[in-house]
Amino acid sequence: MSTDVPQNRPKRLLVTGAAGFIGSNLVHWLLDRWPGASIISLDALTYAGNLANLEDVRDDPRHRFVRGDICDRELVAKLCDEGIDAIVNVAAHTHVDRSLLGGDDFVGTNVGGVQAICEVIKERKSIRLLHVSTDEVYGSQAPDEVATETTALDPRNPYSAAKAGGDLVALAYMHSFGLDVVITRCCNNYGPYQYPEKMIPLFLTNLFEDKQVPLYGDGLHARQWIHVEDHCAAIARVLEGGRRGEIYNISTGVGLTNLELTERLIEIVGKDKSLIKYVQDRPGHDRRYALDDGKLRGELGWEPIFDFGTGIEQTVQWFVDHEDWWRSIKSGAYRKYYDEQYGERIKH
Ligand SMILES: NC(=O)c1ccc[n+]([C@@H]2O[C@H](COP(=O)([O-])OP(=O)(O)OC[C@H]3O[C@@H](n4cnc5c(N)ncnc54)[C@H](O)[C@@H]3O)[C@@H](O)[C@H]2O)c1
Repeated sequence: MSTDVPQNRPKRLLVTGAAGFIGSNLVHWLLDRWPGASIISLDALTYAGNLANLEDVRDDPRHRFVRGDICDRELVAKLCDEGIDAIVNVAAHTHVDRSLLGGDDFVGTNVGGVQAICEVIKERKSIRLLHVSTDEVYGSQAPDEVATETTALDPRNPYSAAKAGGDLVALAYMHSFGLDVVITRCCNNYGPYQYPEKMIPLFLTNLFEDKQVPLYGDGLHARQWIHVEDHCAAIARVLEGGRRGEIYNISTGVGLTNLELTERLIEIVGKDKSLIKYVQDRPGHDRRYALDDGKLRGELGWEPIFDFGTGIEQTVQWFVDHEDWWRSIKSGAYRKYYDEQYGERIKH
């Protein structure tokens, strides 16, 4: 690790959505690699937020957890006034299947929450906002196409539409009020602490129990995959070096169909392909996401560290080693413990 600390590296960060998958990994990543930084973690503790993800940094003097909603402007303003110089907005409603059952929370947090943060920093313009977004905002790409940062937005489910709305709100506040906004759009992540409703942890935990894994449609939908720590490293690079108002795609170029990924997981876990159960396709299921991330690599010198084979094997091992973690989520036990500590959980 270089000993030269870049001049623009923020020292006091507010990470929203910090008890979720990417947020908790980011908090760990920053505390490990930016020794001069301190972090306030803000999370509403929806069903997807789990304080067990932050358990090992609970007593770190550089870290504090606050339960709250990014839509609560008063709270966000109060936290910002503790000397925050950058916000990383990771908070969101994230599960496409849930967004198809009802999009209110998705628009409320993914659009309204971004606007609330922008309203707060409109009065505090020295604070940089890095808004974490997704490749899904570009919609499906043809087999020979990749989305660049200037590709037209074409979101086609309530989740990705709400994410695209949040991106546009952040950019509009940047243009209208001179806010220091940067946006990252990343491909699919895998790694520790991913909530087991998402494909990789759901499939792994089902396979461990010899249960079937539900594969949508013909299984040929394609996604690019990145280890969550590589995503965190890219966020950190953009935080300290990204140009105001710019969007940076983040990817590895590693594309797999869902069937290829499923077969890989089955092989690593040592189970049989007969556990694959083809189920009716999700409505509006985008066929292929693919990003060009040449801008991030060229401008900021970021490269992923993990090759997919090593990263996915380590992830499988993490889930093997953390059976208590995923079992408490699948059984709902994690909710009871934190509800007792923090009062009733936000019901979205
Ligand atoms: N997981 C991926 O593969 C992926 C890929 C690209 C981009 N992203 C983006 O990264 C971000 C995080 O995704 P994730 O997979 O970690 O999701 P996650 O569902 O695991 O975590 C989201 C967290 O946000 C919190 N949250 C939700 N609404 C909130 C609110 N109103 N106020 C405060 N906290 C709130 C939840 O409690 C949860 O802890 C999202 O913006 C998502 O669009 C994810």
